[in-house]
Amino acid sequence: MRVLVVGAGGREHALCASIGASPRLGVLHAAPGNPGIAELATCHPVRVDDVEGQVALAASLRADLVVIGPEAPLVLGLADALRQAGIAAFGPSAAAARLEGSKAFAKEIMAAAGVPTARSHVATTMAEARAALAALGGQVVVKADGLAAGKGVIVCDDAAEAEAAALEMLVGASLGEAGARLVIEERLTGPEVSLLALCDGRTVVPLPAAQDFKRIGDGDAGPNTGGMGAYSPVPAIDAVAAREIAETVHEPVLRELERRGARFVGCLYAGLMLTAAGPRVLEFNARFGDPETQAVLPRLADDLLERLDDAARGQLEQRALNAHPGAAVTVVLASRGYPATSESGVPIEGIAAARARGADVYHAGTALRDGRLVTAGGRVLAVTARGASIAEARANAYAAADEI
Ligand code: AMP
Ligand code: GLY
Repeated sequence: MRVLVVGAGGREHALCASIGASPRLGVLHAAPGNPGIAELATCHPVRVDDVEGQVALAASLRADLVVIGPEAPLVLGLADALRQAGIAAFGPSAAAARLEGSKAFAKEIMAAAGVPTARSHVATTMAEARAALAALGGQVVVKADGLAAGKGVIVCDDAAEAEAAALEMLVGASLGEAGARLVIEERLTGPEVSLLALCDGRTVVPLPAAQDFKRIGDGDAGPNTGGMGAYSPVPAIDAVAAREIAETVHEPVLRELERRGARFVGCLYAGLMLTAAGPRVLEFNARFGDPETQAVLPRLADDLLERLDDAARGQLEQRALNAHPGAAVTVVLASRGYPATSESGVPIEGIAAARARGADVYHAGTALRDGRLVTAGGRVLAVTARGASIAEARANAYAAADEI
């Protein structure tokens, strides 16, 4: 098979590594890719949000399958454009990707499908926001409806904080259009888990569960980021529990989307909170998680490319994915100043030494300058190590990261 992976981050590097291990693979291409991906695939300088450019590239490469990593091209309709051109794509249509692009839409789908989630109200004015706060009580979470790069969710301790958050987004327009509509929902408590699943529109095959950590600092401290680390498996979510969640969350959502003419083909990522009353959905993503993918895919014992291709063709079998025993832990190495700013152009050394310890090192924000590998973004590298237990995998991941 000729495969094109769209994206330039650690997630896409991990996808390329798994796809690259498939006996079905003939040639692997990526666009735009990064220096790490370039070790596995031929990279083409086409931006992820250049829908026409990506379709033209896929056609010229005679790609049998295009695997779309990030949300931006999905929301812009890249999967639709590829299918119209007769090219198989793993990634949802723009209509189905609204599940990630609009939190209010996701809530509407969950309500219609009977999926357990936090009680919520939509607000576009301060009067509506105040009414929502009164209805839900003080402990709420204020969420921008649209895509806000991880900055659109404010977990509030009391009504004053919630009102201030709503004011900043609705009146202060701090997040622009993304925050012109809010979802205000009850604040839940419990451990969080990410359950990603391959979907062909109807059939759902969960990947091993993962937990990601969004705060910048070690010990889960400091401001939120796009995701600083992850581990898999999650002891509370074994294969039986994952199947149960797939049946109560992913499958009803797929049925409701299909009823509305928007089949979901791709990776449906459910961000869940395991509350005392059972799992509740906090959010959906219409794509693989980053960095969950870097912790989950290295554990897969099955041929990922076969399943991605089956899903893209609407022929996914409900056959559980097998994982290697033990655990994987991913630690993200970020630039100084991230998430507020990020330094770039700093030379990177020690990747070979980290790999010599048995770790995988995935590139995210890296670039080659005069033949030298340098930093080029906030999240720079993701280091994944395995171990018999989560604790052992974590020790191995930090030891490998220390080489860099
Ligand atoms: P989201 O982008 O919706 O996943 O929200 C980002 C983070 O905010 C989540 O990972 C949770 O830690 C927190 N969060 C979101 N919704 C809630 C909720 N209803 N109750 C408590 N925490 C939440
Ligand atoms: N790790 C969170 C995300 O991919 O959105």
